[in-house]
Amino acid sequence: MPLACLTDFQAYARERLSKVTWDFIEGGADDTFTRDDNIAAFKRIRLRPRYLKNVANVDTRTTIQGEEITAPICIAPTGFHCLVWPDGEMSTARAAQAAGVGYVTSMFATCALEDIAATAPTGLKWFQLYVHPDRQLNKNLVQKVESLGFRALVITVDVPKLGNRRHDIRNQLDLKLTLLLKDLHFPKERTPMPYFQMSPINSSMSWNDLSWLQSITRLPIILKGILTKEDAELAVKHNVNGIIVSNHGGRQLDDVPASIDALAEVVAAVKGKMEVYLDGGIRTGNDVLKALALGAKCVFLGRPVLWGLAYKGEHGVEEVLNIIKNEFHTSMALTGCRSVAEINQDLIQFPRL
Ligand code: FNR
Repeated sequence: MPLACLTDFQAYARERLSKVTWDFIEGGADDTFTRDDNIAAFKRIRLRPRYLKNVANVDTRTTIQGEEITAPICIAPTGFHCLVWPDGEMSTARAAQAAGVGYVTSMFATCALEDIAATAPTGLKWFQLYVHPDRQLNKNLVQKVESLGFRALVITVDVPKLGNRRHDIRNQLDLKLTLLLKDLHFPKERTPMPYFQMSPINSSMSWNDLSWLQSITRLPIILKGILTKEDAELAVKHNVNGIIVSNHGGRQLDDVPASIDALAEVVAAVKGKMEVYLDGGIRTGNDVLKALALGAKCVFLGRPVLWGLAYKGEHGVEEVLNIIKNEFHTSMALTGCRSVAEINQDLIQFPRL
């Protein structure tokens, strides 16, 4: 039976993956309140469709940081794709390229960055960085991704310390035994850096470090994990190029708002001075439409891409992307939007039910 929606892939992946891998992917922090609310919050929002608007030609294309994508739906950074499919991130990159959407490669990629870049040479790729305490290490990595053709740096700010993931503790998950981070080399060392040496992530990073990062790259810098107007205003003040409103899929601080509930506050604070994106809980075309109506320029998918990868590698990810792109096309047509520029707040019913 063909799979018809993203949650069909979830059910398939659950069957196929080992319990430890499934728990790692699906899990959230603490009581998983925020992880679950990311989904529930979208369902609390109702739409106000407009009809008789001639939607014979619906155009889902848009741009992010000036680059065209076929729909405002890209791939969020998630680590360790080789846990799910043999050639991991290389399959993901090819699928994104085939679908014409962007792919944010995680710093915890389990394929070499050269191979990811080479396998999808024309696909739009950004690189996600956890800033390491060793500045030289960051610099080497940033220069490398720049030379490999990655087009933006996504700095994840919501992990000054790893969240409490109870299932991983119970399962005694030990990524260091199976995986090496092929692109993290200490300066002058040839051997890859084992996962455990990545910890602790730089807990001392602060706003002041951004100007140093800006000084070592020409790439646009996007901050991932912003949830408040205060931090959004600081992002504007520090001249970053974009924000991803995100709570890390509910894997870091539990009891924070669902991403979609934090979006309006951030969009208002930014006042159009940079692009604002969103991830967390996107499962349908309607979710994409709601996020855009509330001010996001584009959304990113985390877990659904891993479900597609578990299903059929590259082709599974492509199916996931095509299904949600088609759903979004339908959502636009059924609400009377011919282009993404026509998606606005009038499509949302306030107050929310
Ligand atoms: C993540 N996420 C993540 N984020 C990041 O900045 N760097 C990373 O390496 C990872 N790794 C990672 C692994 C796994 C298994 C998951 C599920 C998530 C968070 C990710 O980018 C994104 O914020 C969420 O996954 C979005 O929520 P949904 O789409 O999974 O609901």
